Amino acid sequence: MALIYEGKAKKLFTTEDPNELLMEFKDDATAFNGVKKESFARKGALNKRLSLHLYQLLEKDSVATHFVRDDKETTLIVKRVEIIPIEVVIRNIVAGSLAKRTGLPEGHKLRQPIIECYYKSDELGDPMINDEHIRELALARGDEMEKIKRAALKINRTLSVFFAKARLTLVDFKLEFGRLYPNRHNIVLADEISPDTCRLWDSDTGEKMDKDRFRQNLGGFIEGYTEVLKRVEHALAS
Ligand code: TMP
Ligand code: ASP
Repeated sequence: MALIYEGKAKKLFTTEDPNELLMEFKDDATAFNGVKKESFARKGALNKRLSLHLYQLLEKDSVATHFVRDDKETTLIVKRVEIIPIEVVIRNIVAGSLAKRTGLPEGHKLRQPIIECYYKSDELGDPMINDEHIRELALARGDEMEKIKRAALKINRTLSVFFAKARLTLVDFKLEFGRLYPNRHNIVLADEISPDTCRLWDSDTGEKMDKDRFRQNLGGFIEGYTEVLKRVEHALAS
């Protein structure tokens, strides 16, 4: 197995199958484009399990994803894709950069979900971009963006309903999509879905259970992820 990619939170390795990769979840947590960085025992295993459950839930709901099968404690087997360098953010409630950009208070419920696109570029600091920038930079075709936005809204509906069962509010989250090898005609959901990439608040108290505990030095970071996994597994079993 050869390492073909290492990001801030994951590594990708080749497998015997040229169209499948091994995705390893690291224990590292980073924020503010890697400026803040720390390692937490068990984080990789927790995010792997959460991603596994959420990918299986989405596949059951007919969302095409890169998920193939479970592997070891911190690894999954996924289909090989060409990642589209756009971070697709879906928001249900105001938090984070949307509060800063609009002046709307954190916790304000949006009338309908908002989709935003960010250019996945560490050098540029992941700037927000619109469909015209995407067209000019040839990051994705118009028909691909239509499919991506439709899928993103469907994923939002499925995950919001599921997390509500787990007594968690899905405030916002980030998705990445990729073109499936070998022909790269089909678009599937890729990357991870975990408290690294979602804002999840306790439905009753509003307590933050996600990576904002790390970003904002709130404490109890791994405890938050552990509680999210516990509630997700309880909701899946009931
Ligand atoms: P933001 O409010 O900071 O723009 O974040 C929106 C959502 O996207 C939030 O759920 C966290 C997630 N996110 C990532 O997954 N990766 C990132 O690099 C950033 C900035 C946000
Ligand atoms: N993922 C980004 C980083 O590692 C930022 C974030 O999630 O806040 O810096």
